[in-house]
Amino acid sequence: MKLLIDHADIDKIREIYRYYPVDGVTTNPSILAAAGRPPFEVLREIRDFIGPDAELHAQVIARDAAGMVKDAKRITKELGMGTWVKIPAVPEGFAAMRELSAEGLRITATAIYTPMQAYLAAKAGALYAAVYINRVDNMGFDGVKVAKEIHDIYTKNGMDAGLLCASFKNSQQVLELAEYGVRAATVGPDVILNFVKNAAITSAVEDFIRDFEGLTGPGKTMSDC
Ligand code: G3P
Repeated sequence: MKLLIDHADIDKIREIYRYYPVDGVTTNPSILAAAGRPPFEVLREIRDFIGPDAELHAQVIARDAAGMVKDAKRITKELGMGTWVKIPAVPEGFAAMRELSAEGLRITATAIYTPMQAYLAAKAGALYAAVYINRVDNMGFDGVKVAKEIHDIYTKNGMDAGLLCASFKNSQQVLELAEYGVRAATVGPDVILNFVKNAAITSAVEDFIRDFEGLTGPGKTMSDC
């Protein structure tokens, strides 16, 4: 399962890249609004940092298919053809996905709450379906279960699309979907930076260091031996 950062703050992205093996960055219009700067300035900064081969996802804003197609072409012109264009999985979006996927653009169908949206998006040529785990939970359904249903629809029908699970509240949701074999998860810094935060783990590592220093002296490491 690929792991992406769902955020646009370059400092947070740098911090997470320093520690964790991540595969790219996803954004949405709300995330870009929170960044508070011109959208392409922020997206280009992210692209420059993560490099041309890492995944970068940016979303169209227009409500109609023609406008979405125009937005998509501007996104790929500014950020490179390899950039993933997020298009909402609604009727106008399906029309745009069909046109853009035929032209070879990489499409991430987004704002997915139901298996039917994901099924139609895959048929329209999207290669990722961004299902919103926590938002589905908040509607009184089971987001992880919905994601698993979509994964089964894709695999049992031999569809090319895979899941880009999004909107996570905790690491358990991420792990459960990794165990199920979904293609990717995009996770906010607040959840990623708590992936490995556990007193037992910290204490085990500190015990090893203290025992070793008992042998070699305070502050000594393997390099000093
Ligand atoms: O990018 C869309 C998705 O990640 C939304 O997440 O946390 O706003 O529900 P959230």
